[in-house]
Amino acid sequence: AYDATPFVPERGGLDALRKAAARCEGCPLFREATQTVFGKGRRSARVVLLGEQPGDQEDRRGEPFVGPAGHLLMRACSEAEIDPAETYVTNAVKHFKFVLSEERGKRRIHKPPTLRELAACRPWLSAELRLVEPELIVALGATAGKALYGSGFRVTQARGAVLDPPDELQALDAKGVVATIHPAAVLRAGENREEVYAGLVSDLRVAAAALS
Ligand code: URA
Ligand code: SF4
Repeated sequence: AYDATPFVPERGGLDALRKAAARCEGCPLFREATQTVFGKGRRSARVVLLGEQPGDQEDRRGEPFVGPAGHLLMRACSEAEIDPAETYVTNAVKHFKFVLSEERGKRRIHKPPTLRELAACRPWLSAELRLVEPELIVALGATAGKALYGSGFRVTQARGAVLDPPDELQALDAKGVVATIHPAAVLRAGENREEVYAGLVSDLRVAAAALS
């Protein structure tokens, strides 16, 4: 079965994890991607922002949420009074999964990870959460929610409230999880964009209120 466990070091801090993750071959996604995109931020961060997987720009630069969705997310966080500098940002899956489009010069189009890939990569997230011990996790979109709560998770039902942490995270003593939409959903929203963005900010305000 696909599984990152053999690659995850038993000791060490975030730097040791990041170094080891750069060599992970726990599932086939490492083959086509440029590099592992590990989480970024301080170990002392109060909030973990959990995305799905790196996008095209993240894959090239090796850092999470540095592309268009990331810019939008940081703007939304600031508006909700969550200081981006106080967050640890990571993804449920650490390698970019894509298909090449036939048109437009073979652009790389993001493809959602399967549940198997999500499960394979999960040990990295567990290790990050164990070290950062956030007070709150913000799950950005359905994939992030599934990484925490399993395949039955529905973001439309769960969003905008403080959820009890999943069993595995009870020991971390976190206040909970706030789920919301993925910031890329705002970018895709077309004429409803303002409304969809406001919904994201409103959910993030729930997270900010739980922190204060
Ligand atoms: N979308 C994500 O879910 N994560 C990133 O790092 C970038 C885009
Ligand atoms: Fe390892 Fe995760 Fe990359 Fe798969 S996606 S190779 S499990 S780091």
